[in-house]
Amino acid sequence: MRLFDTHCHLNDETYQADLAAVLARARAAGVVRMLVVGYDLPSSRRALALAEAENGVYAAVGIHPHDAAGVTAADLECLAELLARPQAVALGEIGLDYHYENSPRRRQQEVFRAQLALARKAGKPVVIHGREAHADLVATLKAEGGSFQGVMHCYSGSKEAAREYLEMGLYISVAGPVTFKNARKLPEVVPALPVDRLLIETDAPYLSPHPWRGRRNEPAYLVAVAERVAELLKLPVEAAADLTWNNGAACFGLAAEDNGA
Ligand code: NI
Repeated sequence: MRLFDTHCHLNDETYQADLAAVLARARAAGVVRMLVVGYDLPSSRRALALAEAENGVYAAVGIHPHDAAGVTAADLECLAELLARPQAVALGEIGLDYHYENSPRRRQQEVFRAQLALARKAGKPVVIHGREAHADLVATLKAEGGSFQGVMHCYSGSKEAAREYLEMGLYISVAGPVTFKNARKLPEVVPALPVDRLLIETDAPYLSPHPWRGRRNEPAYLVAVAERVAELLKLPVEAAADLTWNNGAACFGLAAEDNGA
C-alpha cells in the first residue's frame, strides 16, 4: 500500500530534532509521497529545501492568512520566484481564517486574491485554508475567475458547501478529524463526495487522528485517516489508498506511477 500525505508541515520546527526518524516511520507505513506546505516565506524555503533533498517529498509555497497583515509587494515578488522552482508543485497554504482573525479580513482577502493570481500566472494548483469564512471564500474565488486546480485542505464544512468548491474544480481533502469519535459532519460528507475528487492528509504536526489525538502528528499516522475513509466508502483500505494516491497525483500534476523518486 502506498499513501500520499497531501498536506503536512515537516518544515515546522517541531521536527527539527528528529526529522529523519519521522520520514523513516512515514515510509515504513507506506506514506511514500508527501506535500510539505509553507505558511510564510521562511517555511516555504524550508519546504523547497526538503523537497530537493528527499525522495517523494514535494513543496507548496505560500503565505497563510494569519500573516496577511505584514505582506509587502516585495514578499509577493519573492513568492513568485519560489513558485517558479520545479520542486514547488503548488501555491499554499493561502485562504481566509476568520476564527483567529490574526490579520484584518479585508487584508486577508487582498493577499488571498494576489496569491490566486500568482498561481494562475504560474499555472500551478492552490492549497486553500478556510476557517469560518465560507461565504467570503466562495466570493473571493468567484471574483478571481471561479475555476481552479487545487484543494480545500482539512475540510470540515457541509456537503452543500463542498459542492460549491467542487463546482469550481477543487478537490476536497480530509484529515485526522474524520477519525474522531465525536465526528458528526465528516462521516456524512466523505461518502457524498465524487470519488475522483477526494484527497487525504495529516496536516501534521496538528490534528493527530485517533488514537494519537492530542499528541504531535506525523505523516505515518495518515494510515488511520486512510482506514477511516475506506470504512466510510465501504472499500478495502488498499483501494482507498490507491484512489487518493491517484487523485493527489492528478491534483498536483505528479506522475501516478512515480513511487517517490
Ligand atoms: Ni496546514
